[in-house]
Amino acid sequence: MRRVVCPGSFDPVTNGHLDIIGRASRQYDEVVVAVLINIEKKSLFTVEERIEMLQTVTKEYGNVRVDKFHGLLVDYCRQQEIPAIVKGLRAISDFDYELQMAQLNYRMSGVETLFMATGPEVSFLSSSRIKEIVRYGGDVAGLVPELVEERLIERLRG
Ligand code: PNS
Repeated sequence: MRRVVCPGSFDPVTNGHLDIIGRASRQYDEVVVAVLINIEKKSLFTVEERIEMLQTVTKEYGNVRVDKFHGLLVDYCRQQEIPAIVKGLRAISDFDYELQMAQLNYRMSGVETLFMATGPEVSFLSSSRIKEIVRYGGDVAGLVPELVEERLIERLRG
């Protein structure tokens, strides 16, 4: 069984995340989408809400499982017997941070990090920008799944 983890905050999931998850699901037998439980970071959606949205929007892939984790990602990988992490790179600005994390993760555990170039049609997306757009009345149709758009409008304008 070839398994890979796609970790993140997913607050909320965007079409950029789905681009990476979907493409990884075609390369691996199973993709585990792991939501970080981070009590220090203020989030818009609870971990359970984020998981529920992720489960709904990844259902069609068939081989994607959604889970949560806390602490070090490499410890989660070890527990779950996952040998590799997949990350999307949107632009060179992502690179410094991601390279450092990939090298540290490998040094700590031998867990590999594989980078995938984000599709150019979604490379400008981030959950923070999406929340900002919705908060101030902008349109995010086509940038996030419809379900997520509805939940964002409900939460930020409701
Ligand atoms: O979506 P994000 O917030 O950019 O995802 C970041 C995430 C969850 C991948 C990263 O912060 C992470 O792996 N956190 C867990 C703690 C950890 O393992 N840190 C790495 C130390 S080198």
